[in-house]
Amino acid sequence: MIRTLVIQGSYLAASVFFILGLRSLTRPDSARRGMQQAAVGMLLAVVGTLLHHEIVEYRWILVGLGVGAVAGYPMGMWVPMTAMPQRIAASHLFGALAATLVGVAEFAKLGFGAQVPRPLMAALGFEVLFGALTVTGSFLAFAKLQELLPGAPITFRGQNALNALLFAAALGIFGWLVHDPGSPRAFALLVALALAIGLSVVLPIGGADMPVVISLLNSYAGLASAATGFAIGNDVLIIAGALDGASGFILSVIMSRAMNRSFRNVLFGAFGSPQAAAARGAAGLAVRAITAEDAAVRLAWARSVIVVPGYGLAVAQAQHQIKELADLIERNGGEVRYAIHPVAGRMPGHMNVLLAEADVPYEKLKEMEEVNPAFPACDVALVVGANDVVNPAARSDPASPIYGMPILDVDRAKSAIVLKRSMGPGFAGIENPLFTAERTSMLFGDARESLRRLVELVKQA
Ligand code: TAP
Repeated sequence: MIRTLVIQGSYLAASVFFILGLRSLTRPDSARRGMQQAAVGMLLAVVGTLLHHEIVEYRWILVGLGVGAVAGYPMGMWVPMTAMPQRIAASHLFGALAATLVGVAEFAKLGFGAQVPRPLMAALGFEVLFGALTVTGSFLAFAKLQELLPGAPITFRGQNALNALLFAAALGIFGWLVHDPGSPRAFALLVALALAIGLSVVLPIGGADMPVVISLLNSYAGLASAATGFAIGNDVLIIAGALDGASGFILSVIMSRAMNRSFRNVLFGAFGSPQAAAARGAAGLAVRAITAEDAAVRLAWARSVIVVPGYGLAVAQAQHQIKELADLIERNGGEVRYAIHPVAGRMPGHMNVLLAEADVPYEKLKEMEEVNPAFPACDVALVVGANDVVNPAARSDPASPIYGMPILDVDRAKSAIVLKRSMGPGFAGIENPLFTAERTSMLFGDARESLRRLVELVKQA
């Protein structure tokens, strides 16, 4: 009795901490606390589960803990920021694999379906369907992002029809199983079909769309966990899975909106392919390259500077250098703000995390809608490794693959200085007319090296 109360109490407290954690994660200044709250919630959920009277022995749990710690610690400590999307894909793979295996074990435990009541069979079927497709989908996403497979969409004739057929077959078998749970063959076929669906759905998706797909898979893994909770009667799994499923879905919607893409377009559009890049061709317009000395003079005495960070800032790991430069400009009396595009970088909140690492005050980080009206009055827009998110073709060229995507209005600033290594394209693989615009100067080189030099020169100015 007391043990049950303690378990239920810890589950309730864990659920409250998960919700508080998610709430705190919605703002950069409370995000760190959000992670801590979620971690406390997870600890409470694990402790509550370990007290369960159904546990017959702890040996295998300890082995699992050891394996998890050995795999998880290096992933947490040493995977670079730039590899975060594939690391998250790997996490979903393991979460979904756990849900699928629990579903299979539960089915086996209940006499291979013979003693499974229909509502429970519905939960188990849902669990293995969403779990198994998330396993293979996440594996493929991981392989593409890690460049173990080509990142470009892999397509073939009749692909969408095949996907529809696989889905219809899986739903049919799911319905059949709920009607007649005592059929191990149908259960095995459902798992096999779900594994095939995961592969066939992610195969035609290009690298540029992968983060949206990953958060969608996150949502599926959450739904599979919630179904696991129903299947094994675990309240905290139901709540955590539902939170995960809902937040993953909302995040996918936010990301799609920020890229001006519909889900349908993401899932069937084959965007981000090299063909799209090649089709754009080279415009051959003149580029104004400037020296670090010229850039430093303009920055040292600018009244208003808006820093626009992008994926290149993460690659160069130049967050500390940009903060140092901003401090120097402010010491000279200038105002510095940071313009944050919702899909700058390669994962949601990428720029916020990087800049927080360098202790950039949160109030200086401005969301796109807030900062865009400030560009026309800004002396220098300093673009650090951003490309697609400042591409004016998204506003002006209906033929552009990113047409309609909201962008940061750098082209409307009085002047712009762009820090990048070459005229190479961004993630969407297309040209950027900002780089050849009259008011734009290009400072070529690794962003960290360029910023280090600018800091030196501004100090002397
Ligand atoms: P990108 O368009 O990817 O451009 C990054 C630029 O950084 C490149 O043009 C590259 O040019 C430059 N760069 C790379 N390494 C550098 C270094 N060491 N020093 C200086 N510059 C460097 O970045 P963005 O503007 O942040 O846009 C993000 C893209 O990812 C968008 O297309 C977005 O839709 C996509 N995406 C993002 C998300 C999320 S959630 N963030 C999700 C899905 C898709 P050089 O090679 O010439 O240096």
